[in-house]
Amino acid sequence: MKPRKVTKAVFPVAGLGTRFLPATKSIPKEIMTLVDRPLIQYAIDEARAAGIKEFIFVTSRGKSALEDYFDHAPELESELRRKNKTDLLEVLKDTNMDSGAIAYVRQNRPLGLGHAVWCARRLIGDEPFAVLLPDDVIAAEKPCLQQMVEAYDRTGGCMVAAMEVPPPKASAYGVLDIAEDHGNIVRARGMVEKPKAEDAPSNLAVIGRYILSPKVLTNLNRLKQGAGGEIQLTDAIAEEAEPDGEGVYGFRFRGLRYDCGSKAGFLQATVAFGLSRPDLRDEFGTYLHEMMAQQKAAQ
Ligand code: G1P
Repeated sequence: MKPRKVTKAVFPVAGLGTRFLPATKSIPKEIMTLVDRPLIQYAIDEARAAGIKEFIFVTSRGKSALEDYFDHAPELESELRRKNKTDLLEVLKDTNMDSGAIAYVRQNRPLGLGHAVWCARRLIGDEPFAVLLPDDVIAAEKPCLQQMVEAYDRTGGCMVAAMEVPPPKASAYGVLDIAEDHGNIVRARGMVEKPKAEDAPSNLAVIGRYILSPKVLTNLNRLKQGAGGEIQLTDAIAEEAEPDGEGVYGFRFRGLRYDCGSKAGFLQATVAFGLSRPDLRDEFGTYLHEMMAQQKAAQ
């Protein structure tokens, strides 16, 4: 039997974004822009391409700019209409959400990613759902979540995006314990959150895209503390890798992932996305070449 269609997605956006202070003192980090689109827009576009119809944001205090971003802006729109700026009106369309398609729920205490997802449990109900961490931006010909939905159609259970990382870096991620490796899909016998380098079961790391069974919400109900004293999503998923669970699969996606939760990753993404834009490629590319040449000459 084919698994149920995935139409709901959770976006955990409650974090304080302290790594980007002072910028994030007054703007949510998800509103920081890669070229001219906020991080959150990339995640929403990816979810839409995968067939998601309902968008659930887990927010916290100080995140109201996110709600405004996905709302109509009547004054701005009528001004653009008056000036006949149809191209800009078109650009704004991506930020429009059908009434009722977007919901906000608050995580009132920062107890971890598992807790954030658990906060959305009533809105998710008893169906499979996706989770997208907007810090992880993935450049891909076919959007990552869409690739996963197609693979999930064959596996069901729980699926996490996965990527090989250099072994010393594995301890910054959730890491898969591989039972069977079938190339782009692996079946996991376990999953560990931020293991010590010597305890990592592999170097196949979990990246912030998930398709999860509602069983994960039941597992989260126990609100057990894990790594770093937080309620970890990884632990709740790992329970489904047990022999009586629904199965956990890692999916090696095709694409390039940028860690926009770190300054270096954000800068790399800015360069990559800038160079991929036809309207900026030439000018920006030439500038980068000149910069590199100057740097070399100065060494
Ligand atoms: C979270 C997850 C971790 C995953 C990572 C991917 O960690 O807990 O399992 O590997 O996202 O970006 P965070 O980076 O929020 O600490």
